[in-house]
Amino acid sequence: MKQKILSILNDNQGTYISGEQISKQLNTSRMNVSKYVKKLIADGYEIHSSTRKGYLLANHNDVLIIDEIQNQLPSFYHTIHIQQSIDSTNDTLKQIAYNQKEGYVLISDEQTRGKGRNGRSFTSTKQKGIYMSILLKPSITIYEALKLTACASVAVYEAIDKVYHISSGIKWVNDIFIENKKIGGILCEASLEMNTANMDYMIVGIGLNVHSQKFDKELHEIAASIEDFTSLKQKRNLLIHQILQSFYKYYNELTHNTFLPIYKQHSIIIDQDIVVHEQDNTYPAHVLDIDENANLIIKKVDGTIHTLNSGEVSIRRIDNNT
Ligand code: BTN
Repeated sequence: MKQKILSILNDNQGTYISGEQISKQLNTSRMNVSKYVKKLIADGYEIHSSTRKGYLLANHNDVLIIDEIQNQLPSFYHTIHIQQSIDSTNDTLKQIAYNQKEGYVLISDEQTRGKGRNGRSFTSTKQKGIYMSILLKPSITIYEALKLTACASVAVYEAIDKVYHISSGIKWVNDIFIENKKIGGILCEASLEMNTANMDYMIVGIGLNVHSQKFDKELHEIAASIEDFTSLKQKRNLLIHQILQSFYKYYNELTHNTFLPIYKQHSIIIDQDIVVHEQDNTYPAHVLDIDENANLIIKKVDGTIHTLNSGEVSIRRIDNNT
């Protein structure tokens, strides 16, 4: 009911709609409408209410609406579930992963314990970004799993390009950058079958800073939001829709690696000097290429060539510390 009321208020954003009209549309009482509007206000939406005119959703609210996201997406995405607040969409989706078909999408307006790679946290401020997890059950081994992170990176790249006409850069394997600032990342988590390298399921978590926001001191230097680079104001629903649309295409074509040329073309570390951080070891290297499983091919200072898998390393570019 809350989502339905929100959806009606959103359709009339910036203008008043009476409690009676809403209650008629939803076949419920005005008291019920008023109860859910109070809940929406408690959730953080700015909704004005007037006894004479009804309710008005303030213009700056960017509301997540299932119908706008779904808007003719492939039926692969059988369920799109939106939460107002959650600890982590990846963690929550994991709890239901065995009982759901692949294509289930969980999105939250904020995360209270958003996770990044290597145990880091991911700032997930309410209404400011996209915090979304997609459930997959692919018939691939864990050795090919990195391809899914790369597919998601390409999907995010394409969606930003389409919706904002801005070109972003992909830092192997999971970070999205604009002008040397990180604007998002992808965290894929898998559950493996015992004794084989096959996957029971895989969760592709996508986090993207969309609307401008104040990052805390530590992040301020390295993170930004898409809107910091454009005056174009867009709804998150559209961006999510485009990401899902594009991701489906590359996921479907996974065996043909159609994502790879785009991934490589927009990679910001191919042909660059980097520093590789392994558990107990840090060393400089030069990036030669990215292989067909989205592994990184590097050349060490001693001239030897190695293939890196993201499970083992994190990397830094030498030029600007990103
Ligand atoms: C990274 O920067 O290292 C990856 C960030 C991934 C963040 C997303 S937000 C949705 C999903 N849920 C999480 O807890 N993390 C991912």
